[in-house]
Amino acid sequence: MRSIVTAGLLAFAGSAVAQDFSHEGNFGAPFPNTTYPGFESSNPYAVAGSLANQTSPPKYPSPWGAGTGEWTAAYTRARAFVSQLTLEEKVNLTTGTGWELDRCVGQTGSIPRLGFRAMCLQDSPVGIRDTDFNSVFPAGVNVAATWDRGVAYARGRGMGQEHKGKGIDMQLGPVAGPLGRTPEGGRNWEGFSPDPVLTGQMFAQSIQGIQSAGVMTSAKHYIAYEQEHFRQTSDAESFGFNISEPDSANLDDVTMHELYLWPFADGVKAGATSVMCSYNQVNNSQACQNSYILNYLLKGELGFQGFVVSDWLGTHSGVSSILAGLDMTMPGDGNAYDSGDSYFGANLTVAVLNGTVPAWRLDDMAVRIMAGFYFVDTNASRPDINFSSWTTDTYGYEHYHVGEGYTEINGHVNVIADHGALIRDIGSRSTVLLKNVNNTLPLNGREPLTAVFGSDAGPNIDGPNSCSDRGCDNGTLGMAWGSGSANFPYLITPDTAIQNTVLNAGGVYESSLDNGAITAMAALSRRANASIFFANADSGEGYIQVDGNLGDRNNLTFWQGADAALSTVAANCKNTILVVHSVGPVLLEGWKNHPNITAILWAGVPGQETGNSIADVLYGRVNPGAKLPFTIGANRTDYGTDILYTPNGDVPQIQFTEGNFIDYRAFDQHNTTPTYEFGFGLSYATFKYSNLRITKLNVSDYVPYSGYSTAAPTYGNSSYSSSAHLFPSNFTRVPLYQYPWLNSTDLTKASNDPHYGADGLVPEGAQNSSARPIPRAGGAPGGNPMLYDILYQVEATITNTGSLAGEEVPQLYINRGGQYDPVRELRGFERLSIQPNTTTTFHVDITRRDVSSWDPVMQDWFRQNATQRVFVGSSSRDLPLQGVLA
Ligand SMILES: *[C@@H]1O[C@H](CO)[C@@H](O)[C@H](O)[C@H]1NC(C)=O
Ligand SMILES: *[C@@H]1O[C@H](CO)[C@@H](O)[C@H](O)[C@H]1NC(C)=O
Ligand SMILES: *[C@@H]1O[C@H](CO)[C@@H](O)[C@H](O)[C@H]1NC(C)=O
Ligand SMILES: *[C@@H]1O[C@H](CO)[C@@H](O)[C@H](O)[C@H]1NC(C)=O
Ligand SMILES: *[C@@H]1O[C@H](CO)[C@@H](O)[C@H](O)[C@H]1NC(C)=O
Ligand SMILES: *[C@@H]1O[C@H](CO)[C@@H](O)[C@H](O)[C@H]1NC(C)=O
Ligand SMILES: *[C@@H]1O[C@H](CO)[C@@H](O)[C@H](O)[C@H]1NC(C)=O
Ligand SMILES: *[C@@H]1O[C@H](CO)[C@@H](O)[C@H](O)[C@H]1NC(C)=O
Ligand SMILES: *[C@@H]1O[C@H](CO)[C@@H](O)[C@H](O)[C@H]1NC(C)=O
Repeated sequence: MRSIVTAGLLAFAGSAVAQDFSHEGNFGAPFPNTTYPGFESSNPYAVAGSLANQTSPPKYPSPWGAGTGEWTAAYTRARAFVSQLTLEEKVNLTTGTGWELDRCVGQTGSIPRLGFRAMCLQDSPVGIRDTDFNSVFPAGVNVAATWDRGVAYARGRGMGQEHKGKGIDMQLGPVAGPLGRTPEGGRNWEGFSPDPVLTGQMFAQSIQGIQSAGVMTSAKHYIAYEQEHFRQTSDAESFGFNISEPDSANLDDVTMHELYLWPFADGVKAGATSVMCSYNQVNNSQACQNSYILNYLLKGELGFQGFVVSDWLGTHSGVSSILAGLDMTMPGDGNAYDSGDSYFGANLTVAVLNGTVPAWRLDDMAVRIMAGFYFVDTNASRPDINFSSWTTDTYGYEHYHVGEGYTEINGHVNVIADHGALIRDIGSRSTVLLKNVNNTLPLNGREPLTAVFGSDAGPNIDGPNSCSDRGCDNGTLGMAWGSGSANFPYLITPDTAIQNTVLNAGGVYESSLDNGAITAMAALSRRANASIFFANADSGEGYIQVDGNLGDRNNLTFWQGADAALSTVAANCKNTILVVHSVGPVLLEGWKNHPNITAILWAGVPGQETGNSIADVLYGRVNPGAKLPFTIGANRTDYGTDILYTPNGDVPQIQFTEGNFIDYRAFDQHNTTPTYEFGFGLSYATFKYSNLRITKLNVSDYVPYSGYSTAAPTYGNSSYSSSAHLFPSNFTRVPLYQYPWLNSTDLTKASNDPHYGADGLVPEGAQNSSARPIPRAGGAPGGNPMLYDILYQVEATITNTGSLAGEEVPQLYINRGGQYDPVRELRGFERLSIQPNTTTTFHVDITRRDVSSWDPVMQDWFRQNATQRVFVGSSSRDLPLQGVLA
């Protein structure tokens, strides 16, 4: 066996804070694996590269932006801008001013001399967090369920427009990490799907949609951030766990490339302006100071031209992180909110003056940030920041946490526009029809008595925004919890919308909205002609626990006592329709097999119009065409992977021993029958597949990228003498605020770091500014452009054999042919609208990347010398058309 490249090399441990291997020998034994026995990949790389104590190789220097291709104009402007800046002004661009010390959840310093205001960075991936008069869009998992690239773009553009209207420069999203390694993962719903191709395409479209509104994106969270437990020591401590560092996701280079990095390649290719590094460690090196993932993979191989921003408090060092590729620290504070110090800020000024951070590196940080800013033409219109994240009062403090700068803080600008209609449409078009016995659905509203059941059908009686960051599961699940949420402008419940429909149609309607009211539910369901039961399962971000779920779900069953209530209703009504609002898979095997449950719908986490969206599908105003973006298994253990719920050591080790066998790849590998497979979804129409055509294009052979970068450039006057960097006289400081200036001309004092100079050791090569070789798999944003050459065109004929117009999502899967490759992997899809008795052509361009595998020794993609098969059909298990890519 060839050597495993990620193994056996120590990461550069970095400065000041204890990290990486400072806790060697303290790993507890035995290691409970998060991969169930029997589910480990047989790929020798995955086995060897996912073990506890796996390390991350050092990769230096940090590649400077090339600014070529699509980025040329943005770099030209950024370089011109940065050339005018002083040392402190450059540092100001890289450092947040501190938590709750300005209006946005993250705000950089400004450059008053040039009239450049601070950059406003704001959550979330579903809409603007922490303000009012904004929309709540459907979650990422719903976007994935539409399998419609146009939806991803339109939602992105709508969200971008809203952010723009509030004066926000950068929306913190979209999400491709977590990818969804385990179905219990708390934040999976913020992202799209455990399939990297579906996620990658939705991620790319979302980025372009948001950026089309002149707002930067933060493609996040980079990378292998697959669970909430132990992502931060502070969260863990608050729940009584004793860990010394965030968990380490241990994975090999093949799995990294073929699974977790794949969607980020799409995001970078789509022009993502920034990438947010995550809280976890990757192979025992903090994600925000991991030179392998930042310098080598992201800025090297993927040719990323924007900037890397830390997740909030995800920075664990100054010099080490900067040399490893971090460009901006957020919210600016050091190792705690409002600590009053920073790893960047004055420390960065000092680090440049003492020569540890080369001037070219700071220039690259500033240029990358400004290139992102100009890439989306943020400047073309830049409304003032007209809200405060920390209060919805009209008047309040500019520097909220310290109570300074009383002013009109909230303009309450309404940015909703006509987005409600878009949200309603995405909600219905993301609803997956899983079961529909004898055309139970659509209903016509003239059923004599329609009854709606379940706590999930009604309101949160305390108000839709009563729980901070949606950290509870009361009433219908329109949005899950955490920083990835936003305040509802209104919330249309299923109860309201279905009642409106039924009454308009002349029917009679009752509802029972408390799952505890079993007797009342039994009585009502005995009388009802159609009983529609709403059940949910929630999850969220790890700083909030709900019902003992620390972000990640504890189980894959229903919440709110829905199981008992649903049993009662189904035992009493022969026409029980189940609607599921959930963040991901829930166990449905029993309900699927229940004779009285005539229909099942999965509606995800659909946002503010949830009731209207589901009513549109139930009553046939919208013909469902969505498909599951994940597998619904019969048992939790069928997935083969799970959350690490209890630390297995001081630094929890999460071994990705399953390699790329997650979700349907695991079910297929083990021949496990799921309840509903990945890609499955019914329609009120029916479709027939025929006539597979495979055309091989005449394309030249792959050529590894060769060539060098320029030498690292510097901009403006980069020779700094140590005397001119003190705070200006008469300058009034905001307490706890991060500034770029120094308190003392003595750098040791100015740094105030007890370990000042102790790290003296700069990683080998980190200061090398000579032209550097470009990785052979690199060469342009997204990697070697030849990876995106189209090798084959595949077409199939899809016929609507039903009596209604409908939408179908044909899917194309490939078997790459290697000994250790998944049975099949999604590579293409299209949401097609087809009239009855008509045919449409499904077309997929198959790129070189689509048929390639990662060689960790060669560090490049290659094509297996094997038969590669292609499958086309309506789900990952219904694939009537098959062929060979010859
Ligand atoms: C991890 O490293 C520590 C320190 O070298 C060692 O004691 C422990 O056995 C290792 N654990 C595994 C599973 O390799
Ligand atoms: C965890 O997985 C590794 C790699 O497959 C294996 O060597 C180890 O024995 C497993 N540990 C447990 C406790 O199952
Ligand atoms: C850095 O930003 C802060 C906050 O916006 C501002 O007060 C300060 O003047 C800026 N410093 C420089 C050197 O521009
Ligand atoms: C510089 O960073 C160190 C930790 O690395 C911290 O102790 C010190 O307070 C910081 N200095 C400033 C001025 O923020
Ligand atoms: C569906 O309809 C067929 C034909 O009318 C009938 O035989 C069957 O029992 C029905 N199935 C259910 C579950 O109602
Ligand atoms: C809201 O949910 C919390 C738990 O998440 C629960 O304790 C509380 O009773 C619920 N309130 C209402 C009004 O249902
Ligand atoms: C699953 O978790 C939810 C939420 O904590 C809880 O309400 C439910 O009772 C749990 N299910 C089982 C079977 O324990
Ligand atoms: C289905 O509903 C009928 C009442 O309409 C009831 O008699 C029967 O027991 C139910 N079946 C099951 C399996 O609960
Ligand atoms: C340079 O400054 C940085 C930031 O204060 C500090 O962490 C580092 O230890 C210093 N290095 C040397 C060699 O003085």
